[in-house]
Order: sequence, then C-alpha cells, then structure tokens
Amino acid sequence: MTSSAPQTFYLKDYTPFGFDVESVELTFKLAPTATRVLSRIRFIPQENAASSDFFLHGEELELISAAIDGTPVQVEEVDGGLNCAVPSTPFLWEAEVEINPKGNTALEGLYMSNGMYCTQCEAEGFRKITYYPDRPDVMSTFKVRIEGPEKVLLSNGNPTASGEGWAEWHDPWPKPAYLFALVAGDLINHPDHFTTKSGKDVDLNIWVRPGDEGKCAFGMEALKKSMTWDEEVYGREYDLDIFNIVAVDDFNMGAMENKGLNVFNSSCVLASPETSTDANFERIEAIIAHEYFHNWTGNRITCRDWFQLCLKEGLTVYRDAQFTADMRSEPVKRIEDVIALRARQFPEDQGPLSHPPRPEEFQEINNFYTATVYEKGAEVIGMLKRLVGDADYYKALDLYFDRHDGQACTIEDWLSVFEDATGRDMAQFKRWYSQAGTPKLKVSDNFDAGTYTLTFEQSTAPTPGQDIKDPRVIPIAVGLLNDKGDEIQPTRVLEMTQATQSFAFDGLAAKPVPSILREFSAPVILERDTTNTERTFLFAHDTDPFNRWEAGNALAKETRLAMITAGEAPDSAYLDALIKLVRDDTLDPAFRALVLQAPGQSDLAQTLHARGQVPDPQKIYDASETFTQTLAQALSDSLPRLYAATTVDGPYSPDAEGAGKRALNARILSLLTRLDAGEQAQRQFETADNMTLQYAALACLLKADKGADASASFFDQWQEDRLVMDKWFALQISCAEPEAAARIAKELTTHPLFTLKNPNRFRAVMGALSGHHAGFHQISGAGYTLLADNLIALDALNPQTTARMCAAFQSWPRYDTARQELIKGELQRIATTKGLSRDTNEMVTRILN
Ligand code: PHE
Ligand code: ZN
Repeated sequence: MTSSAPQTFYLKDYTPFGFDVESVELTFKLAPTATRVLSRIRFIPQENAASSDFFLHGEELELISAAIDGTPVQVEEVDGGLNCAVPSTPFLWEAEVEINPKGNTALEGLYMSNGMYCTQCEAEGFRKITYYPDRPDVMSTFKVRIEGPEKVLLSNGNPTASGEGWAEWHDPWPKPAYLFALVAGDLINHPDHFTTKSGKDVDLNIWVRPGDEGKCAFGMEALKKSMTWDEEVYGREYDLDIFNIVAVDDFNMGAMENKGLNVFNSSCVLASPETSTDANFERIEAIIAHEYFHNWTGNRITCRDWFQLCLKEGLTVYRDAQFTADMRSEPVKRIEDVIALRARQFPEDQGPLSHPPRPEEFQEINNFYTATVYEKGAEVIGMLKRLVGDADYYKALDLYFDRHDGQACTIEDWLSVFEDATGRDMAQFKRWYSQAGTPKLKVSDNFDAGTYTLTFEQSTAPTPGQDIKDPRVIPIAVGLLNDKGDEIQPTRVLEMTQATQSFAFDGLAAKPVPSILREFSAPVILERDTTNTERTFLFAHDTDPFNRWEAGNALAKETRLAMITAGEAPDSAYLDALIKLVRDDTLDPAFRALVLQAPGQSDLAQTLHARGQVPDPQKIYDASETFTQTLAQALSDSLPRLYAATTVDGPYSPDAEGAGKRALNARILSLLTRLDAGEQAQRQFETADNMTLQYAALACLLKADKGADASASFFDQWQEDRLVMDKWFALQISCAEPEAAARIAKELTTHPLFTLKNPNRFRAVMGALSGHHAGFHQISGAGYTLLADNLIALDALNPQTTARMCAAFQSWPRYDTARQELIKGELQRIATTKGLSRDTNEMVTRILN
C-alpha cells in the first residue's frame, strides 16, 4: 500500500470483526524512549470466521515478539497493522512491542507531558500502544500491570494490587480499546468520597502536578454534583470503586472519558478564583459533568463504529447542557449555547466542510469531532425531547439503558427505542442524522375572522455530496402576544413535517404578535418579513426569555447591517429600547450582559453573504465600533450607577448570581472605558481580587490602547502560571486594532513562552488571530500567511490540532475575490507541503473543493 492515495472509509461498508475478545492483559514496562508493552489477548473466532480475517491494527510499533498459544508465530506486517494465520478455535495471542512515548508529539497513544506519562486513545490511538482490533465494537475486560519508578501508576477500573515500582488494575466492564487509559507520574491527589444512591462508597481523586493541588476543589464539587444529578435525573449510578481524574498540560482536546480514569486538559479542570474567570468555572463544571455522564452514554453503551460518534457525543452534550441549566440559569445557558452554535456550527454547516451529524464517509475520523457532531447532535436530541415530551423522553432513555447496556450501538438502535417507547415512527426524523445543512424556515402570517394562520416553508441548500434535501420534522415552539404584551397563547409546539405547512390559531380578538421558535426549538434559520417595530415590541415584552433576547439580537444585527450597507446611523428606537432594558434592575444581570454582547462579526459577514452581498470585514468592524461608541455616549449618565451596582459583596464565589453581575461588570466597564480614558478600568485592574475582574479590566485597557503597563504587570504576576499565560497571549491579539492583530500575533510566536508543542498555547495565539474577524481578514493577507506558516510547522509535530485549526479557512467563499485568492493560495501552499499528514490533507482538500 502506498501512503499517497488516502483511503476513504464508508458507513455502508460496515462488517463486524470475526473474533470476540474475551480478555485483555497488558503489562507496561515504562521508559521514556523505550517502553515495552506485553499483551495477552484471548480471542474467540466467531462461526465462519476465516483466518484471513484476522487483522490487528498497529502503528509506529516495533514488534519484538508474537506467539499464539505459547508458540512463536510469523506475522505479516502491513501498512496500519498485521495479518497472521490463526486457529479456528479460541486462542491466546501474546505480543511484545516497543514504543517511544517521549518522541510522541502527536499526543495520541502513549506520550509524555511535563515528565508524566499519559495516553489518549480515542479515536484510533490504541493501535499506537499495541497490536489490537482497534474498533469500538470490539469490547473486552482489561487487566493492566504497570511497572515504573513513578509514584503514581493509574489505569482503568479498580486497583487490585501494588508494590514498590508496580501497580495492577482490573476493569470488569467490557470496553472498547478507545476507552483504555494509563497515567504515570509523580502526581498529587485531591481526594474525596461519594456514596451512590444504593449505598456504594466510591473513592474520588483529582490528580495533578505538584503546585496545582490548590486548584482542584471546584472540579471535585462539580464531579459530586454530576454524580448526584445523573442519579436523580437519569437514574444512572456509578459502577466502580474508584473514579480518577488527571490533569494534563499537553492535550489535543478538552477532556477524555476513559473508563474510571478521565484525562483532562488542565485548562478544563484546574480552577482558582485568582487564576480562572467565571467563564472558565462554568466550562470546567460542564466538562467534568460531560465526561462523567459518558460513563453511561458512551462507555456502558458505546458506538458500533465511528460514524455513530454523535450517538454518544450529541446525547452527552445534551445531558451536560441540561445539567448546567439546572445548576445555573436555564435561559442564560440556552442563549449561550445558541450563540455558540451560530458561531461554530452554522459556518460549518453552510460551508465546504458541511456534513451530517452522522457522516457517511471519512478519511481521518479525528476530523469529525466537530460542532456538527457535538452541538448539532445535541440539538437533535433536544428536538426529539420536544416532540415526544418529557415523560416519553425519559421512558425511551430508560429503555435505551435497559436494552443496550454493554453494547456497541447505532443511531438506528437509538431511534428504535423512541419508536418502541412512544409508538411514533421515526423514519422522517432520522433525516436530521443523515442530511447536512441548516434548514431555512420562511414564515408568513395571515389574520382573518378571528383566525391567525402561520405558514412555514422549509428548504435546505445543497451541501457537498448532497444535492437533494427532503423535508424534515421541525418542532416549532410558538406563543402569541396581544398588543399590550400579554401572552394570549402559551407556548405550543407545532410539528412541521411538510415542505410547506400552515397552522391556525382560532378565536382571537385581534391580530396577535407571534413569538416563533421559542427556546430556539430547532436549529434552523428563521426568515420572516418583519419590522423593527415588532422586534422592539418583542424585545420589551416577549415572555419567552430566549426570544426576548433573540429580538434584541436581531435588532443589534439589523442596525449594524444598515450602518454597513446604507451608511445609516445607529437605529435610535433600538438604542432607546436597549438602554431601557439595561437600566432595568429587575432583570437578571446575566441576561442584561447577554443583551449587551455585540453580535459576532463573522456572523454578520455570514448574514451579508446570505443576502447576496460581499462582506467587508473592516466595515463590519467599524460599524460595531461606532455602534458601541454611540451606546456608551447615550448611556453615559447611567454608567457610574450601573457600574457600582455590579459590585459583588463578600469573597469571590463562581456561582451563577455573582458571575452574572461580573458579566455585566465587563460590559459596563467596556462602555465606561470609551468615555473615561480607562480610569475606572485601571482602578479595577489594580484592586481586583479575582481573575474575572482583573481580566475584564485588562481587556478594556488593551482595547483602549492604554494597556501596556497593565499587561506588563499581569505578565510579571502570572508568568509561572501556564493557563493564565494562555489568556495573556490571546488577549494581546483579540484586543488589538485590526491592522495590528497579525503583527502582534507574529511577534508573540517569537516570545520565549510560545511553543508549538503545547496545543493550548498554540490555540491561544492562532485561535485569537483567526477569531479576530477584521484582523484575520486584513486585505494584506498577513493573517492568512501567518496562520498557514504555523499550521505547516505544527503539522510535522501534531497533525490532529493542525487539522482542526485549518477550519479557520472554511469561510473563504463568503469574501471578495482578492481575499478568496489569498486564502486559496495559502490552502494550496499547505496542501503541497511535503509529508503533510493525512489529517491536514483531508481538511484542506475538503475546504478547497
Ligand atoms: N470524547 C471526548 C469528549 O467528548 C473528546 C475527545 C475526542 C478527546 C478525541 C480526545 C480525543 O469528551
Ligand atoms: Zn464527549
């Protein structure tokens, strides 16, 4: 096989493996550049299995020996694994391989991070540890022995024995190899306990490098809350004697749900008031919950193959969102999620990388850990729940856990439990899993003789490889208001199934004002000929908090678009309404902060493109600046009072209430800074006793170009803290003027603390650059070139993170030909790099086509 023609894998080609794995025993003899892995695997050939079906995956392994039933065997090493003649009766496979954890910069398989060993096996990393059928439908129990001088030696399951320089673990729950984990290092733990609802005592530990032990308490509380919540809401109990979490500095993703041994990017678990913002705390709580919830949705019930990834990810994201809504504020969480969906998933769905939540082909599965699989996958679950109702949803979930515990499943299995629990036919709903693209939903209305009729028309533009789209089932939550703002029709979920469909509301005295797609009941783009007057009315009166925010968001977008395309002044009716709402102290500060959050500039560019115009990033930036400046002036009398009201008494606590006030603090301070030359921000920076306030003040000062001193003192204060330094790197760029962003980013890549080897640091700089819309898209092309240079450099070390960050280029078709040519040129330059990884090659090829 040559490596030049990339192989494509298809869902339709699925075939089961011909052998069951009864048990796996692994021994690790740890050494940084020459770790030995001994495996003893009991295989049971299934009926009709041919010896030629026996293929074990393996990559970057040095085979030392292989034997079957104690007799050495000849194997045929091929690209990606080995073949071997095997008996037709159960047999014991034994192999020894050597691997090099220290040389592993891809951070997949067994690698080293700051002197500790750790593993990352999802999706196909186990094959870099030993020869194995590395596919999620092959499940087995594991016994692991680790030998090494490190103080702490961890693996999955329960500890069974240990001594000086060794430890043994047994995981009694059959699992696929992607859930395997091993950690070894001189770590310190933050211990605790949890008693499950049936009275079982579980040891809990968060393991960190010395120096980080003071940053574990919050994560531990989040873990215990997650365990309780999953018992109460889904009836799911934990199933081992111990649950370990480890913080790792070098990690490609957020965290990983390995059975009983979750491995976390340290940025997603370590927290302290001095070093973490409220947003960090909220995210950490959510990710701890997410990984814990995977124990049932992912581990006990796993995926048959990687095409089914959203089976575990969509459901688990949905579950963690429910958890956050319960722990904090439901409407605030929903608004945050929709902002994120529009910022990350919509561009994917509407660009060259568009794919369904369940893709049907891939070259490199790592490229499909996407916003579509995760976030749209979660939206699909939310729709399902809305359609069947809460009671039937939990009935179906009980059936799912009951029927499929211990199995590797498909989306078909998932939908079948809904069919069986509710009697509904899910065939049409399934299109949400198979069709790519964001549906457009056009609405028109009519009032006649007391009857109000809403007519919806759905359509989805063609996406790569999918020209024809069939109508989907769309739950549309609608409420009606009268002209005083009273709700005359409480929320009702309309179930749309046709391409065009009307719904009538009878017995009305006058034409109502509709509130459509409440709670964002489906991930669609709503199009309606409406007026700013009606939007302003809903912004003031809608009883659904999501749609109230949405009305304000639409106004915020429309006023900027009118400034950009027609040179208009900021809409004064909207400004008045906004000011009124912001001054209303009866409203939740978190909600007011969200209302003050400017619409994303990339989102504005996408909307302009959708309306047939070519977005100019600089004009979008200028309009946003002008609007904010106008708002600051119009609100100036109230700013000191509003600012003072955001003070939180008592010691810092990352709860929703305090966080809401501080979110509003950041918005108000940024307005104030435009009027007082940064005086208040400087004071806040100097007196802040927590990172949230300090960070907000630094951002304001940098934005006002008054941040040089503050930035230097921030650096001095925090240079030893890796996670705070990531913030420092990112802020220099995200607060820069558009013309300066790429230059500053380039300078930062020569800073002594910049390194390609740490994904967090790389993302801090390159993510901030690509996230600075007007800065990244400067017509000089400097931003594009800088990103491409760094992607090329990183690809040689870490293909996964490189490939993922190529997505910054996905929106090229929106822009003018000059920018298009610049971006395509950079993509071509990446594509023709010698020795480019399969990961990155697939991404640039898809983006270019
Ligand atoms: N499965 C992990 C999660 O969602 C994400 C992950 C994927 C981590 C691949 C590492 C590698 O929680
Ligand atoms: Zn997950």
